[in-house]
Amino acid sequence: MSSKNPIGIFDSGIGGTSIWREIHNLLPQENTFYLADSKNAPYGQKSKEEIIALSSKNTEFLLNQNAKVIVVACNTATTNAIKELRAKYDVPFIGIEPAIKPAAHRSKTETIGILATKGTLNSELFNRAVETYSNVKIIEQVGYGLVSLIEEGKMNSEEMTGLLNDYLKPMVEQNIDYLVLGCTHYPYLIPQIKKIIPSHIKIIDSGEAVAKQTKNVLEKNHLLNTSTAQSSQIFYSNSDARVLKDILGFSKEVYEKDF
Ligand code: DGL
Repeated sequence: MSSKNPIGIFDSGIGGTSIWREIHNLLPQENTFYLADSKNAPYGQKSKEEIIALSSKNTEFLLNQNAKVIVVACNTATTNAIKELRAKYDVPFIGIEPAIKPAAHRSKTETIGILATKGTLNSELFNRAVETYSNVKIIEQVGYGLVSLIEEGKMNSEEMTGLLNDYLKPMVEQNIDYLVLGCTHYPYLIPQIKKIIPSHIKIIDSGEAVAKQTKNVLEKNHLLNTSTAQSSQIFYSNSDARVLKDILGFSKEVYEKDF
């Protein structure tokens, strides 16, 4: 395996680009290959078996592109399928889970809110993490409809504002001081979320931690790319590539291909 091989990254759609950004900022010399399975988004309401099958398909696509490691840039896929992926494929995996730990440690009101998909909140992995932090009250809210609206390019719609109001106001009323974004699509909603919640509530996600973990895994496996050549960043979508291109906000190689 060559260190010049790409880091493979997948998500149920375009949200994992928030993780790609963190990885690219920290490791600009790395070649990356991003896969948006937008055709099958959202994963959040699918069964564990379906999520494992889709995550396996995505992993195989990335392995065919010679990915040296795989970043599962989706909380729903990580919390439901990473154990099975690790057992099935001989490649290092980096996953993402909601950042409950830092929120629980720092909370002064001892009440934190988490917005995530149903699949993540119902997963065994997430519920085991919750049990560890019984010192705080954790208010869980499923973000019904949010991923679909983002995938449809309706991020700034009135419908989105309405849903966010419904989901966040009860948390504010219960005095949370941290809001955990447990879905990689949600960091794109931060400007709107900030208009709804008071400024003392801190918003956190796991993007930076995943980028650091990716670096650690590459170092440990002697796969860090030290080449000074211009790195390549490739993006694939199996749905409308324009939505992926729009969220990236710059011109990169974005391909539309069914897989
Ligand atoms: N970005 C995915 C996550 O982090 C969205 C899941 C979905 O497709 O519902 O959970």
